[in-house]
Amino acid sequence: MAARISVIGTGYLGATHAACMAELGYEVLGMDVDAGKIAMLTDGTVPFYEPGLDELLAKHVASGRLRFTTSYQEVAGFGADIHFICVNTPQRKGEYAADLRYVDAVVEGLAPHLDQPTVVAGKSTVPAGTAVRLAERFAELAPAGAGVELAWNPEFLREGFAVGDTLRPDRLVIGVASARAEAALRDVYAPLTDAGVPMVVTDLATAELVKNAANAFLSTKISFINAMAEVCEAAGGDVMKLSEALSYDARIGGRFLVPGLGFGGGCLPKDIRAFMARAGELGVDQALAFLKEVDEINMRRRVRMVDLAREQCDGSFLGKRVAVWGAAFKPDSDDVRDSPALNVAASILLQGAQVTVYDPKANDNAAKLFPTLAYADTALEAVQGAHVILHLTEWREFREIDPVVVAEHVSSRRIVDGRNALSAEQWREAGWTYRALGRPVAG
Ligand code: UGA
Repeated sequence: MAARISVIGTGYLGATHAACMAELGYEVLGMDVDAGKIAMLTDGTVPFYEPGLDELLAKHVASGRLRFTTSYQEVAGFGADIHFICVNTPQRKGEYAADLRYVDAVVEGLAPHLDQPTVVAGKSTVPAGTAVRLAERFAELAPAGAGVELAWNPEFLREGFAVGDTLRPDRLVIGVASARAEAALRDVYAPLTDAGVPMVVTDLATAELVKNAANAFLSTKISFINAMAEVCEAAGGDVMKLSEALSYDARIGGRFLVPGLGFGGGCLPKDIRAFMARAGELGVDQALAFLKEVDEINMRRRVRMVDLAREQCDGSFLGKRVAVWGAAFKPDSDDVRDSPALNVAASILLQGAQVTVYDPKANDNAAKLFPTLAYADTALEAVQGAHVILHLTEWREFREIDPVVVAEHVSSRRIVDGRNALSAEQWREAGWTYRALGRPVAG
């Protein structure tokens, strides 16, 4: 009989993990406290935009291998070999630390129903020490007591590539405290390890820290190149050339070295803050003090973008029309959590401009968060009469748009490329003033 898997929390991470586990051949039960979300998933509809996930979900809902519920009792009665915890861990309001209320709620909700030995594997991003604390709570609350074994199996998937990253990850990390938990996780991931995916087996704390460290490193890499962009602007250099030149050094590499408006989303910003907070609790705050600077550099990019846009509006936003291309925190996602694009759009609106936003997928989510911004249905509709266009999320659609055509719709040919993703040459040839973060005024 196929192994049984439960997945608790069906957001970007959980819904993807559930569908991918079904794809690997397992019987999967997904659970969420949000009945609306569960109704959509049961219908085979993904409640957010993630390329390739709709097909996978529909396929396995139709085959009957993937089902959903809102009941912890049903999850416990499913007889899962492994229960995966995939709920989110946002930033606590007014603090740097992670808010663990959803993870805690899973333990409180599930544990009282667990009367048979089983393995629970956390995938959520948590501060070091969380897994040990949760293991104690399971032992206290579950009728099966110490028969409920906790493991930590951090997730490294990127939104926009979630399915590929889950089915063909760079590596698997499993933090375990017992041979039984290790064997259960090795079994479930055997199709991936057999295909050559490396697996690193650690203790619980190391597994938690690997994820914290990975996101801290990625954030640092982005802020490093954005700090270079600041220096390039002051010295008259071109950060795109600088980045290219660095990228040929195999020790540095070119990935996550694209300068621009910086990082946002539901992960990197809150994860580096939670990491700093945890280091403080552990008495090693100095070790991560540099992450404060990483965060500062990142936030300065947004301010610099607004300044560049104001320059292009001849020093004042008052009475100006500003078109914003992009609202999602990155392309191929409809996620607007801590989106640099929306942050810039909203602050320009507050400074007196009329701002019209267009995003291929994220308009609806953006409008919920910032209803006072205007939204357009197409890239060209957004630029009608614009004094300046701001390119803030690098969707392919924007790279493919013809500057000659766009010119017919604007009141002034000025564009600021916040992602260094458009062809400066092509836009300048079409008569545009093209500006970008970290690059010389012309040439
Ligand atoms: C990130 C990590 O990349 C994943 O490995 C991790 O699993 C995930 O967080 C998580 O913790 O759940 P994600 O937030 O989906 O994934 O997005 P990224 O692709 O990492 O991009 C993050 C931000 O950095 C975006 O705003 C992007 O525009 C920006 N970025 C990325 C840059 O500004 N420059 C770059 O060179 C690369």
